[in-house]
Amino acid sequence: MEAQAIEDMFSVAVAASAEGRLEDAIAAFQAVLVMSPGHDEALFGLGLALMQTRRFSEAVEPLARAAAAPDAEPIRHQCLAQAQFLTGDFAGAAATFAAVDVVEPVPEGARLTWARAAAYAVLDGSSAQEALDLYARIAGPGAEAPETVARESFGILVAFQRLDAARALGAWLEAHDPADTVRAHELRVLVEPGIDKAPAAYVEALFDGFAERFDHQLVDMLGYEAPALLAELVASHRQQFDRILDLGCGTGLAGPHLKRFGGRLIGVDLSSGMLAKAAERGGYYALVQDEAVAFLESHPGAFDLIVSADVLIYFGELGPLFSAAAAALPTGGLLAVSTELGQDGWTLLPSARYAHGDAYVRASASGFRILERQEIPLRREGADVTVGCLYLLERI
Ligand SMILES: C[S@@+](CC[C@H](N)C(=O)[O-])C[C@H]1O[C@@H](n2cnc3c(N)ncnc32)[C@H](O)[C@@H]1O
Repeated sequence: MEAQAIEDMFSVAVAASAEGRLEDAIAAFQAVLVMSPGHDEALFGLGLALMQTRRFSEAVEPLARAAAAPDAEPIRHQCLAQAQFLTGDFAGAAATFAAVDVVEPVPEGARLTWARAAAYAVLDGSSAQEALDLYARIAGPGAEAPETVARESFGILVAFQRLDAARALGAWLEAHDPADTVRAHELRVLVEPGIDKAPAAYVEALFDGFAERFDHQLVDMLGYEAPALLAELVASHRQQFDRILDLGCGTGLAGPHLKRFGGRLIGVDLSSGMLAKAAERGGYYALVQDEAVAFLESHPGAFDLIVSADVLIYFGELGPLFSAAAAALPTGGLLAVSTELGQDGWTLLPSARYAHGDAYVRASASGFRILERQEIPLRREGADVTVGCLYLLERI
């Protein structure tokens, strides 16, 4: 009777999983495991469903137990290794890949993850060059160029707070490509936390290089929704504006959400690559390449609504930006911004972005009254979700 119930529930879980109903699948696999705690196929199914819903940390334990079953297929070990990698356990991932490779060679795609895991794991005790050589040995014929590996790995290691390892790779990159403005700033950030604003040349180069992938990366991969949420917040106070500014408009993700307010929408950004994407999307009356504060200062009283999504993360000190925004709005004009939520004051993070404490934002926003403040999940980062904050401010 019990055996039949387990089998039925397992079938429900497998069907839900096959149909992409992952939450149902997770619940059903868990129900199987309540009845039969060692059910290794349910453990594997649960681990896979958790991976697909990006709950990598939760996936490690069931996958490890599924892989520990007698005669477990190599794929179970490979999935466990992927989960270990995605939670920043690089040494664990490298060991899991190495152990399963003896049983059945790790396929080419997964081999690159293994090679990276092994390289990251040795970076604490070895030089960047030794780590990259190890990467090349494990990756074999499919190995990516060392510059590509080093560049991508730098960001991954920063996201996982492996800052010594990131510094070592950053120094290697600087020696190999001293003209790379983006990497030079990102490395500088790791040693000079007092820099109070992202340099314009860095922002421009970073986003020119990112423009093509930005929407996919932010929206599909990182679950970024700040533009829509800011527009909602504004709409809960007022529905009509004649002159709207999307400050740091990027690829124009906010454009469709700001359309509802009716007025003329102007987008400003430092990056021509991002502006070209915003032009493709359409909906803007004009798109201007300029620095945010400089643009605001040269447009006194020119807007009724200024929206700035995920741009204050490139400013440490907020005073100059708020003063310039106050000057660009008439009394009663609205400013809607998002921040990455920090502790006290402003903090330059290893990611080269800034986080701001709530008290600091309030103290910096002279000339404004805060109408609304809302905490939101801003974007996924590594295995975590970064908390953001929306502010709706009225010019007084
Ligand atoms: C993370 S993106 C956000 C883009 C857009 N607001 C969105 O929500 O999709 C940040 C944008 O701000 C722009 N940016 C950063 N600092 C700037 C500055 N000082 N002046 C003008 N644009 C800036 C960048 O070029 C980039 O396009």
